[in-house]
Amino acid sequence: MTEQDNKHKIEVDKLSGVETTGHEWDGLKELNHPLPRWWLWILYVSIIWSIGYWIVYPSWPIPGGATKGTSGETQFTALKRSQNEIFLRQQVYLNKFEGASFEAIMNDPELYAFAMAGGRAMFKDNCATCHGTGASGGKGYPNLNDDDWLWGGSLEEIHATLLHGIRSGDEDAHVSQMPAFGKEKLLTSIEVNTLTDYVLAMSSRDQEKPAMDTLAGHKLFQTNCASCHASNGQGDREFGAPNLTDGIWLYGGERGDVYETIYNSRAGVMPAWKDRLDENTLRQLAVYVHQLGGGEETREKPILIAVPQENDEKDTTPVDGEEERKPQGTDNE
Ligand code: HEC
Ligand code: HEC
Repeated sequence: MTEQDNKHKIEVDKLSGVETTGHEWDGLKELNHPLPRWWLWILYVSIIWSIGYWIVYPSWPIPGGATKGTSGETQFTALKRSQNEIFLRQQVYLNKFEGASFEAIMNDPELYAFAMAGGRAMFKDNCATCHGTGASGGKGYPNLNDDDWLWGGSLEEIHATLLHGIRSGDEDAHVSQMPAFGKEKLLTSIEVNTLTDYVLAMSSRDQEKPAMDTLAGHKLFQTNCASCHASNGQGDREFGAPNLTDGIWLYGGERGDVYETIYNSRAGVMPAWKDRLDENTLRQLAVYVHQLGGGEETREKPILIAVPQENDEKDTTPVDGEEERKPQGTDNE
């Protein structure tokens, strides 16, 4: 030991009463504050722990991946395990769900809950892009929360709409095409204007609204539009023709929107889902959409009676009269 070391050993800083380390810069001396013992212990333990961890779990990057670890456990195996668990849990319900009728699903709280959970998730993934996350729709995309249905709101009808789509090209799709009255020169733009006013009057909730048959467009409407929208304008689900009297608009209710619809026609397309989603998923979706608010009871003759229609000279017995009711420009086999 040198003399300096000896000297340092006893050197105590006068102000703080703490030993110095013997390091000195320009008269500044370093006080000797050793790390607290508990802190050091935690450091040593974590070093030992990390060595154990390196051995047991995958950790060090090596070409082509990482060291495997002795346990064989990775986040991939953990994911797979939890997916398997979910699958097994679903399988219990799927076995019951498979082939169950809508009636059975609606009457079994477990199956119903299963359908709703699955339907909600699948709706977000597949349908929300067009119909919105809350299914409230947008211009050209119908709101599925209300009880205003284009093609029908019973479980079976919704299911059929999902399977085959609307103007989707599927051979069983809902089809019907409102002619582009202006563009195809079926009507003059003056007539389209008159009809626009007529349709707007029809949808008006105004108490003092004049009787429809006194209005200028009445005759035009009866000749050109009633075959699909019914003579009172309340629509017909057989042709997916919306009710024009309820103030609910698929393509907007501003004057310009309505004119545009009549002049150019719209013909919204909804894809067919039968080749993209399996039958269980489609039934889950049907249940989900059905309960969104506007679900209807199954009717004996689902497609025919769209809305109760007063003063409608239409034949109410479904089978007869079918032929004459087929509007021009409609291609529904
Ligand atoms: C590419 C856009 C698009 C996607 C995706 C889409 N739809 Fe549609 N859907 C439409 C359009 C457009 C209509 C209305 C067509 C018309 O004018 O008749 C429609 C109509 C419907 C109808 C009929 C409503 C009625 O009043 O009769 C239902 C039910 C429906 N969609 C449910 C769904 C479900 C469930 C999904 C998801 C599996 C879905 N849609 C995905 C565009 C879409
Ligand atoms: C061949 C059947 C058919 C005929 C005829 C027809 N429409 Fe339509 N109309 C439809 C269908 C189907 C829709 C909605 C679906 C679509 O086009 O996407 C529709 C939609 C509309 C809409 C939009 C409603 C909304 O909620 O935005 C208006 C307005 C309308 N029709 C007015 C008329 C008028 C006026 C006539 C007569 C000049 C007429 N339609 C003739 C089938 C028809």
